[in-house]
Amino acid sequence: MEIGKYSMDNVVTYLRANPEFMDRVMRLYNDFDIQSLNLFFEEFDLTSPFKTGKLTHKRFIENKEAIFDLIKDPNAYPTPVKNKDYLGDDYTKKIYNNAATKYDDIWDSVWTYETRGGIIDFLNPAKNDKILEVGVGTGTNLKIYPDYCEITGIDYSEKMLEVCKQKVAEYPKKNISLQLMDAHKMSFDSDSFDRVLCFYALCSVRDPLTVLKEIQRVCKPNGRIVIFDIIKSEISEVAVLQYLFRPIAKEMGAIYVEFSPPYVISYDSFLDLFNLFENLSIKVDEVLYSDPYKTAVLLRYTNQK
Ligand SMILES: C[S@@+](CC[C@H](N)C(=O)[O-])C[C@H]1O[C@@H](n2cnc3c(N)ncnc32)[C@H](O)[C@@H]1O
Repeated sequence: MEIGKYSMDNVVTYLRANPEFMDRVMRLYNDFDIQSLNLFFEEFDLTSPFKTGKLTHKRFIENKEAIFDLIKDPNAYPTPVKNKDYLGDDYTKKIYNNAATKYDDIWDSVWTYETRGGIIDFLNPAKNDKILEVGVGTGTNLKIYPDYCEITGIDYSEKMLEVCKQKVAEYPKKNISLQLMDAHKMSFDSDSFDRVLCFYALCSVRDPLTVLKEIQRVCKPNGRIVIFDIIKSEISEVAVLQYLFRPIAKEMGAIYVEFSPPYVISYDSFLDLFNLFENLSIKVDEVLYSDPYKTAVLLRYTNQK
């Protein structure tokens, strides 16, 4: 298997010879240290040995062989995921139920208002428009919605919605309702909404293609759909790291939840959003990347159906 200029075999050989590399990835992920993550990407070069240092990540040290086994198999996390309970909806629900009370401490400041600021321009809602937010979570986006629209937020985690409900009370002028619902099979009639936002949730759902189809169904023809997510980068060096990290981000999620700060979440680090769009013949109207590695994207399209 090839990703950009790197073959998986080269990468796996390199990682086995340089375990500090993967240890570092897990440490940075665990600490959510963005500055060091940037430096790390700059240093990424498979042609020279990784700077040696001590292994620091307890879970990496304890699970080194298991992690390398996951990495070695390019199909460790096939798409769509089959027969893996811990990658299913109940697993996701458990993770977000566990993360709910700590979620805002980190993610509200990671996706800052600057990142979220573009959402409302992209949605561009008119008076009395009905807006659906899929995977509304703790309601980190509630502040952006105008008072003159009708907002519906859905999520699959009761605990995330409980936190969201408290936030709704802070905006008495806004017309917001919340529903516990699985985005893979929404209970709304077709053509129910003028605008749909799915912010940082497609990477968390079991089957993003099905969710995108559901979004198309419940959105009115020519309605606007806005997506923000972490996606597979088009920069090959970055994509290869995202690929390697994929089984860890998903499968080791359970370990993180038990042993690490509870804000750590499970997600797909290799969401091939533009490929899914091709599948559905979606033509994007506007795209904004929020990082130089092209791993975080805000985009909008018109619902052609
Ligand atoms: C990373 S959080 C994003 C939350 C919020 N949009 C934000 O940006 O703060 C992903 C959210 O998707 C929700 N989610 C995951 N699978 C879902 C599903 N099948 N149906 C509905 N929501 C789901 C999770 O419960 C979680 O609240």
